[in-house]
Amino acid sequence: GQTLKAAANRNGKYFGAALNEGNLNDATYNQIGRTEFDYLTHENSMKWEAIHPSQNTYSYTNADRLISFAETNGLKIRGHTLVWHSQLPSWVANGQWTRQTLTAAIQDHVTTIVGRYKGRIAQYDVVNEIFNEDGTARDSVFSRTFGGLNEFVTIAFNAARAADPAAILCINDYNLDYTGAKATAMVNLVRTLKSQGVPIDCIGSQAHLIVGQISSTFEAALRSFAALNVDVAITELDIRTNTPASSSALQTQASDYTRVTKACVDIPRCIGITVWGITDKYSWIPGVFSGQGAALPWDDNYNKKPAYNGILAGF
Ligand code: XIL
Repeated sequence: GQTLKAAANRNGKYFGAALNEGNLNDATYNQIGRTEFDYLTHENSMKWEAIHPSQNTYSYTNADRLISFAETNGLKIRGHTLVWHSQLPSWVANGQWTRQTLTAAIQDHVTTIVGRYKGRIAQYDVVNEIFNEDGTARDSVFSRTFGGLNEFVTIAFNAARAADPAAILCINDYNLDYTGAKATAMVNLVRTLKSQGVPIDCIGSQAHLIVGQISSTFEAALRSFAALNVDVAITELDIRTNTPASSSALQTQASDYTRVTKACVDIPRCIGITVWGITDKYSWIPGVFSGQGAALPWDDNYNKKPAYNGILAGF
């Protein structure tokens, strides 16, 4: 039958999902994960706190469960994420760093992980969520210690490239779904760093969207990234609504999924789409956006929602 990955592949794109190794024992989840998708992202288990919980401890067991699921079933992997202010262990977030010691810590982290998975992880979110909405540098131990973004972003990308020259290296963020200050800041930083030889291959747009509220400039923002001669990836797509979702909201959601899919199809540099989960049952949305959910292509009982056919319609 028809699958999301087959539809994407016919258009030269991939179709991925964020997966959680804790759910692989759920037979339906496992089956959908291995049949509908040709890419996966670790929902949590490659984040710094999970994989490098103390300075001299790396902890690969959970991450490796999804790596082996991917390798057994022929999915590629987006490594998520190397440098991010969130889900950062306190030894990093609250460390007493200098430029020199934090450079060494970033280099160790990136080199160790990317080196361990060399040739096995196709794509990385090297840095994640580094901008404020107004385009300024988001506060973090990294931006504080280095006095801005350029230096630590450069350090992280150079270390990742050196550790696996074949991996596609992305800078990833949210609210890049419209033109404006944040998207412009992304364009300006990537243009500047690329002109200095920093190996940025790709811009990731998370695309945590709201039903019925996709901006008229959604496509224009993606095109502004592709115009920098980088790949573009939609990395964490979900489209939330108030719950319980009405049937009309689910129809609007389907056309929203069609629109996002078409945007990728219509932009040659868009390499693929990743949805942030499979089923509404396990989605992160209700826990973070109170009263909202129903954001994914499968419902709580693994029925395909209109959104599923909405994606197919976009390819
Ligand atoms: C979320 C996960 O889905 C949750 O399970 C976790 O509790 C918090 O992080 N942007 C990102 C993702 O880059 O890593 C986040 O994932 C969602 C927002």
